[in-house]
Amino acid sequence: MAEDAPTAPPTPDTDSLEFPGAELITYNSYLEVPALLDLQRLKSEPPMHDELLFITIHQAYELWFKQIIFELDSVAERMTAGDIFEARRLLERVIVIEKLLVQQIHILETMTPRDFASFRSILNPASGFQSIQFREVEFLTGIKDASVMRGIRLEDSERARLEARLAEPSLRDIFYSALRERGFDVTAPDDEGKLDDDARTNTLAALVKIYQAPEHHFHLYNLAESLVSHDQCILLWRFHHVRVVERLIGSKSGTGGSAGVRYLSSTLVKRAYPMLWEARAHLDDASLYGKARGMTAPDYPID
Ligand code: HEM
Repeated sequence: MAEDAPTAPPTPDTDSLEFPGAELITYNSYLEVPALLDLQRLKSEPPMHDELLFITIHQAYELWFKQIIFELDSVAERMTAGDIFEARRLLERVIVIEKLLVQQIHILETMTPRDFASFRSILNPASGFQSIQFREVEFLTGIKDASVMRGIRLEDSERARLEARLAEPSLRDIFYSALRERGFDVTAPDDEGKLDDDARTNTLAALVKIYQAPEHHFHLYNLAESLVSHDQCILLWRFHHVRVVERLIGSKSGTGGSAGVRYLSSTLVKRAYPMLWEARAHLDDASLYGKARGMTAPDYPID
């Protein structure tokens, strides 16, 4: 079969400009491509081949972190407003981005340890540890380890931003508020993930009620599972990142001053929603059912 003849390339339709003399918007001007492409400045002298990749990948992460924070702020707003459907829809977008970010870290494995070592010293003492947006994602999600701020030299405005994130309700707090508003007797774990015994039992009972009958708590169940996926993506990113770090620098300490892989391995236990993870282990715990029955939350999909 003959191939279609190529069509002519598009020509900008200058006649459609609203005002004569107005500037024609182009791909480059709308996206500020020249400014964007001016931001990858190698520091190695003579320039090391892999430094461009190293800068580009970190900048790409920061751009996606910006988008994730934007979306998570909306998720918090929608959950607070009681719009569970929209909160979950936007959270699913975040999860798709995060899956990309988990994969993206492996591009760095195309560097040899030797080539990375050729420019690593010029980064000192900079480190991904100091990514303010990464800390914002953690705090907003519900992983509020304020001690990480001690390892970052912060401008006043950056400190204010992080302190505001620590002070505001996290997605974890807002999720539990949403459950309480719907008649479930739950308490959000504190910033260290702790709950007293009674609160813990009641919270587990409520979550088991939802996980036992997802079809009766459709929106809340889906939201809970999206929160778990988001938590899981952060955990997976940590795991993939530390393995890539190990391939590149082995047991060397980090440019940020930590013990490197040993420090990063210690972060693999951080979870924003420990009770959601735990609930599924208790679905056959009959003693919890009695407690859940006492809650006013109705067994039909009004959420
Ligand atoms: C050659 C590649 C990389 C190496 C060798 C590396 C190494 C390290 C090390 C050793 C640490 C611990 C802190 C320190 O002492 O410096 C760290 C932390 C961190 N890195 Fe990387 N990293 C790499 C790539 C990346 C990329 C592409 C990102 C994306 C933003 C990133 C983000 C982070 C974050 C957010 C932390 C803090 C983790 C936490 O405290 O839980 N790193 N990195």
